Amino acid sequence: MNVERIFKNNEKWVADKLKIDKNYFSNLSKGQNPDFLYIGCSDSRVTAEELMGVAPGEVFVHRNIANMVQSTDLSAMSVINYAITQLNVKHIVVCGHYNCGGVRAAMQSADLGILNPWLRNIRDVYRLHQKELDAIKNIEKRNNRLVELNVQEQCINIIKTAEVQKAHKEHRITVHGWVFDVHTGKLINLRINFQKILKDIMKIYHIT
Ligand code: CO
Repeated sequence: MNVERIFKNNEKWVADKLKIDKNYFSNLSKGQNPDFLYIGCSDSRVTAEELMGVAPGEVFVHRNIANMVQSTDLSAMSVINYAITQLNVKHIVVCGHYNCGGVRAAMQSADLGILNPWLRNIRDVYRLHQKELDAIKNIEKRNNRLVELNVQEQCINIIKTAEVQKAHKEHRITVHGWVFDVHTGKLINLRINFQKILKDIMKIYHIT
């Protein structure tokens, strides 16, 4: 891959779009009205729009290493705030993926510099679910289960925010936990039982 090819690809993409609909870009420039906010991993294999088969304008996207939602991360918090208060998205998705390098790195004993505080948040998820994870002897399976549990914890982190609690109270928002399986290309709905989880923790996190 090189830069010239990317610009060539872009020219072809523009031409292809205009061949189907000559007003495609003038319509696109009118604004966005996505129903979904997608929070996923930066991994180059997990392309948000392509794997969901959605068109430009349909999904608001935020990606970082290991699809984390941290309360001190101004970028993630701004994305969530904007998606709910300005775009009025109806769904927030946290999408992890099996064989996540960030999750794998967090399971190792290594000093990774600036990545340490970021990966520590995944280590905290491990600590929360240590009993279940340590019972899984196969390392790949254990890492993949941590991928799922990390999605669950990041969904819970979303529910801790005031905007989401307000929107949830007004039945305007649903939070979903998904995993992308790199081996098969399949998107898996983890069907996390938020009602049960929230019943146990909202006494602590309720703010609105
Ligand atoms: Co990843």
